[in-house]
Amino acid sequence: MSTPEIKLDSLLQEDRVFPPPPEFARRALVSDPEVYARAEADPEGYWAEWAEQLHWFRRWDRVLDWQPPDARWFVGGTLNAAYNCLDRHLDGPRRTKPALLWEGEPGDRRAYTYEELHREVGRAANALKGLGVKRGDRVAIYLPMIPEAAIAMLACARIGAAHSVVFGGFSAESLRDRIRDAEARVLITADGGYRRGGVVALKRSADQAVEEEGGCPTIEHVLVVRRHGAAADSVGEAEMKAGRDVWWHDAVEGADAGCPAEEMDAEDLLYILYTSGTTGKPKGIMHTTGGYLTQVYATTRWVFDLREDDVYWCTADVGWVTGHSYIVYGPLANGATVVMYEGAPDWPDRARMWKTIEDYKVTIFYTAPTAIRAFMKWGTDFPAQHDLSSLRLLGTVGEPINPEAWIWYHKFIGGERCPVVDTWWQTETGAIMITPLPGVTHTVPGSATTPFPGIQADILSLQGECIPTGGGFLAIRRPWPSMLRGIWGDPERFRETYWSKWTGKAVGGSQPGEGVYFPGDGAKRDERGFFWVIGRIDDVLNVAGHRIGTMEVESALVDHPSVAEAAVVGKAHELKGQAVAAFVTLKEGQEATEELKKELSDHVVRKIGAIARPDAILFAGDLPKTRSGKIMRRLLKDIAEGRALGDTTTLADPNVVQRLKGEYEAKES
Ligand code: WTA
Repeated sequence: MSTPEIKLDSLLQEDRVFPPPPEFARRALVSDPEVYARAEADPEGYWAEWAEQLHWFRRWDRVLDWQPPDARWFVGGTLNAAYNCLDRHLDGPRRTKPALLWEGEPGDRRAYTYEELHREVGRAANALKGLGVKRGDRVAIYLPMIPEAAIAMLACARIGAAHSVVFGGFSAESLRDRIRDAEARVLITADGGYRRGGVVALKRSADQAVEEEGGCPTIEHVLVVRRHGAAADSVGEAEMKAGRDVWWHDAVEGADAGCPAEEMDAEDLLYILYTSGTTGKPKGIMHTTGGYLTQVYATTRWVFDLREDDVYWCTADVGWVTGHSYIVYGPLANGATVVMYEGAPDWPDRARMWKTIEDYKVTIFYTAPTAIRAFMKWGTDFPAQHDLSSLRLLGTVGEPINPEAWIWYHKFIGGERCPVVDTWWQTETGAIMITPLPGVTHTVPGSATTPFPGIQADILSLQGECIPTGGGFLAIRRPWPSMLRGIWGDPERFRETYWSKWTGKAVGGSQPGEGVYFPGDGAKRDERGFFWVIGRIDDVLNVAGHRIGTMEVESALVDHPSVAEAAVVGKAHELKGQAVAAFVTLKEGQEATEELKKELSDHVVRKIGAIARPDAILFAGDLPKTRSGKIMRRLLKDIAEGRALGDTTTLADPNVVQRLKGEYEAKES
């Protein structure tokens, strides 16, 4: 990879500055910028202060042991994540405080106080033990957005088993790959989940994952939550396989609620979460207990200015890292009241989100730019139908937010009184890394502003020089508590992917490049020192805030018997940020028909899941390649986005790409 292809001029010159609203700043948890200097003066001492606010069975001996790329945080300390999210709140008034306020898509509701959630988690933990799950095992979770998702995660944490949550939108095949890679013993799923009035038949996919094409030899039991029962005629009652399948209500409801929390080492595995990378095989990102919990706790508190009476709603799915860190672990470790919603934002109508905010008097709302762009398109009438005056803070995550969407969000949802925090981070970082502090930062729409106190982010050239203003590679120069500890089963890929960009170089003139983390994003820094994250510069797409590897989609296409070769690129999309565009070469004798296009598109969905469905498929006689045979995706991207072609001098045959461009334009018009 050469210098990142960053189109800086594509960013608006953004001069609108939004200081913290005075009313907000006056009451904010942090209103003095000296927190940054204090953290910089002694980062380890600063993180230790945060860690002290958690409950430890045994205090750590050392804050950090850093042997790049291997970090150990809070060495020698022991704790339990579920204990920190539940038990420690039971001594005071939080015992009867709502922990989880859940609403199903059809409108059914469930609420759990901390005491009740604690009891449910204890039961689920004992049920898992009853199924043979032990400390150190892995448990796969494939659930809709129902309370049992959070309960299952916390139950695993309680007994020291690592969870591997797989987003419910992934296909059976994706689920199977992840279960096999993690060697999970138990799979927790549901008969289905509601989405736009219909039912997603998760159990059916789970059965396919576990039974077909070699199945999942490590799975001993499948624990099934009854979400819809026989209510959904279209799906019918889930088939239960004797000996293997167990209903959640049979195993959990009768179980004893008393289950001691395992004393875990700070560096014991809390969970694995798979994310897309540059190859066809997703990476099992590993997060451990002490450092992860410390940073999700700290960032939830300061970034969202969390107070005791807040009602906090993050719209992510628990299948993504945002759901892990900012629905479950961060807010619950803080004793917050969390709203959780099962379904689609436009069901039964496009006011559902705003109605929910009014109904629950939500004060903090955290969502994705892709959702905001959809809300914008639906228009201001929908939010105007509801009382949004309870809101006091808005957040975004997952992709760059275009300034227009930011302004719309600020004005029509936040009523111009709520600060907007644009938070940059990733599955690998575990917690928020670059973000405003709402009582301190003068925000600029489109910029995630500055690193959270204690985080050292930078913009570097390929040679490792700091770029004070301008564009380059985003880099993290100092270890942080919630950093990934590895890729499950693949230490070499861990080193290679994240820690090798500046190997052998002196970063900033003196720092050994081996200890500098490369997140895969390109970014620029403006005159204020603010960061503008532009997006992935590797072969990873960000479609509606979801990471999808181009190689994953290509492998799915090539898996189809008619396909000889495929190249996938991201194409700018008004709502989704990026959409999948695929260029496909068919095998000899295969006919390029519209039906085949549809079949290929369905094939991708079957292999990966609906999030990867291509927006456009173009049959190509040939793909543009360099003389060494490498497909030039950059040129395909130019074609897909209707731009003039970039440099074609290294191509083996420049005519190929010209012809393709002509064909594409003929199709589009
Ligand atoms: C992108 C989601 C710009 C980025 C938490 C990153 C962002 C990837 C932002 C991680 C933001 C996330 N501004 N880009 N505020 N937040 N990204 O692992 O490209 O699903 O590398 O984690 O999303 O996606 P992931």
